[in-house]
Amino acid sequence: MLSPVIEQALNDQIAMECKASFVYLAMANWCEQEGLGGCAEFLYEHSDEERMHMLKLVKYLNGVDGKAIIPNVSLEQQSWSDIRSLLEEVYEHEKKVTKSIHELVAVSQEQKDFRTLNFLQWYVDEQLEEEILVKDILDQVKLIGNGPQSLYYINKELEKRANAPEEEEEEA
Ligand SMILES: [Fe+2]
Ligand SMILES: [Fe+2]
Repeated sequence: MLSPVIEQALNDQIAMECKASFVYLAMANWCEQEGLGGCAEFLYEHSDEERMHMLKLVKYLNGVDGKAIIPNVSLEQQSWSDIRSLLEEVYEHEKKVTKSIHELVAVSQEQKDFRTLNFLQWYVDEQLEEEILVKDILDQVKLIGNGPQSLYYINKELEKRANAPEEEEEEA
C-alpha cells in the first residue's frame, strides 16, 4: 500500500523534473536565438533528459498503484542576460533538485517504503553525475575567461558536451 505522503512527495518531484525540462527548453531556445548553437544543442538534450526523469517517476508511481499528476508549468523567464549567468542558474537548479531527491530518500526511509527507496537510488546517482557535469562546464567557462572570443569558446565547449557519447545507463 502506497502511503499518501510518498505519493505526494513523488508528485512534487514529478513537478520539479517537469519544470527543469521546460526551463532548460526555454534556455535552449534563447541560446539558439542568440546564435549559440552549441549551447542550444546541449540544453535541448538536457531538457530531454529531465523529461525522461519525469516520465520514469510517472510510470513508477502509476505502477505502484499511485496516481501521477502531470503538472501545469509556468515559466518566469524566456531570456537571459548572458550565457555565464544562465549556466550558473543551471548549476543552482541541479543543486536544488539534488536536495529534493535526498529529502525524498529520507521520507521513504521514515515511511519504511523500501521499494521507493530502492527506486530513488538511480536518481541519487544521476544527480551526482549532473552536478559534476555542470560544475565541470562552469570551471571550463572560468578558464576561458572574458576575452573577446570567449563566447565562441564557450559555445564550442558545450557543443562538444552535447555530442559526447552517452555514458552507459543501468536502465533506459
Ligand atoms: Fe532531473
Ligand atoms: Fe538535472
